Amino acid sequence: MSGRTPYFITTPIYYVNDAPHVGHAYTTIACDVMARFKRLDGFDVKFLTGTDEHGQKVQKSAEAAGIDPQAFTDRVSQNFRDLAKLLNITNDDFIRTTEERQRIAVQALWRKLMESGNVYLGSYSGWYSVRDEAYYGEDELTQRDGKRFAPTGAEVEWVEEPSYFFKLSAFQEPLLKLYEERPDFIMPAGKRSEVMAFVRGGLRDLSISRTTFSWGIKVPGDEAHVMYVWLDALTNYITALGYPNTAPGSEFARYWPADLHMVGKDILRFHTVYWPAFLIAAGLPVPKRVFAHGWWTVEGEKMSKSVGNVVKPGDLLDTYGLDQTRYFLMREIPFGNDGDFSKKAMIQRINGELANDYGNLCQRVLSMIQKYCDGKLPQPDGFQEPDTRMLDAARAMLGTVRAELDVQAFNKALDAIWSVIGQANRYVDEMAPWSLRKTDTVRLGTVLYTLAETIRQVAILTQPFMPDASNRILDQLMVPMDARDFNALETGVLTGGTPLPAPQGVFPRYVEPEAGAA
Ligand code: ME8
Ligand code: MG
Repeated sequence: MSGRTPYFITTPIYYVNDAPHVGHAYTTIACDVMARFKRLDGFDVKFLTGTDEHGQKVQKSAEAAGIDPQAFTDRVSQNFRDLAKLLNITNDDFIRTTEERQRIAVQALWRKLMESGNVYLGSYSGWYSVRDEAYYGEDELTQRDGKRFAPTGAEVEWVEEPSYFFKLSAFQEPLLKLYEERPDFIMPAGKRSEVMAFVRGGLRDLSISRTTFSWGIKVPGDEAHVMYVWLDALTNYITALGYPNTAPGSEFARYWPADLHMVGKDILRFHTVYWPAFLIAAGLPVPKRVFAHGWWTVEGEKMSKSVGNVVKPGDLLDTYGLDQTRYFLMREIPFGNDGDFSKKAMIQRINGELANDYGNLCQRVLSMIQKYCDGKLPQPDGFQEPDTRMLDAARAMLGTVRAELDVQAFNKALDAIWSVIGQANRYVDEMAPWSLRKTDTVRLGTVLYTLAETIRQVAILTQPFMPDASNRILDQLMVPMDARDFNALETGVLTGGTPLPAPQGVFPRYVEPEAGAA
């Protein structure tokens, strides 16, 4: 355990006012792929997700549902826990901001900020968006029908109340220094430029408490105030490590700073401006990276309850399957870009890349071994140039995939794997094992072994993306459970003569249900 390098990765904690949809699934799956990859690559991974349960927005949703906020959040938080299970997510912890450990951590951080001299009492008057849980300046707003809207499209309301402020204005220089010294603190690069331009434009002090509602963590020593929900929410990342216990040997000492906060681009500013400023003020290290991915639309439109086009993860799994959905989300768009979710694209990828390319490769090779080799893994005997070319390509995958995932280029990692799958399918056609079977059974054994070994390499590497399907392929090659990590890519081998079970298809084609069929 302690010999391994720690790796701490987090999802945003989701607001419980909404039912989970494909956008939430997306971020969580991306983190799960990273977490699984790092575990297979020998890291000591801690993977955190959870729910954001305080604030005015959640309080209003509870009121609308006619129940008290605690009962409301208990109920809806469970939906996100269920989602993680449904998506086969390997999170090590699930945090709720209504837990006692969160109150302890947030109040401790508050005291640190007070002690640092960066907090003062004043009064706030200005615009607030409950939907975004964010303050906006007059200059950022647009007016329509007598109402004012934030750049996000959310309506804002005027608030005037006593408030504690955080001296964010004092952090312009330290933040700019951070972005300059650590170019990969904010990724992708385009988002880094946006944040830098914003910070260069000057920072206003930030209101960090509210008095006009009560659903939040109380300000220590001034209980008329509850803390601004974002100060509360961001702290979850260290609460889960047992903050304020930062002693040597603590989880905090081991896992902080986080290796990666994965977020959507909507909450970039909170994670790359406010959060590092709070941490610097409190004398704590800042995370190593914040990666802001893009936004999904659905069939070209923004997802919204009123349009009625919200894609529910459960429906996707029922229609297309879990691993198919995970694959699609990670492959369809360059990670960091916006993308569109369409049925057509999903079906194309399932039938093309999964059924035809990957599924067919496995099915062909395993069936030939079954038929031509008496159902036993063949023994190689004298590799020739095309075989070593195939095996070299397969063995080079780990390096490429690792480099791509180190910069969260999920789609490129999959491209690299699929290029080997493509090469393997061509190799089958060129080697024509069905002819070798009649002319040269020694050569046949070497060719089928080369293919089986290539599939082993591919299936070990697709585990983070498609854990179930990959493991079913490795089962069919009789790869032992303890020989499925990346170490086994280098040291593991297939043993000639091992009897294999009858092959079973892993990636069925998607067939559109007939119109009118029940
Ligand atoms: O912002 N496309 O929670 P939230 C891609 N509680 N990703 C999407 C998406 C879409 N259409 N819709 C949602 C909050 N997401 C705060 C976070 S963290 C300390 C507090 C994903 O429920 C994406 O990751 O509004 C986005 O950042 C997140 O859900 C917002 O979730
Ligand atoms: Mg949101």
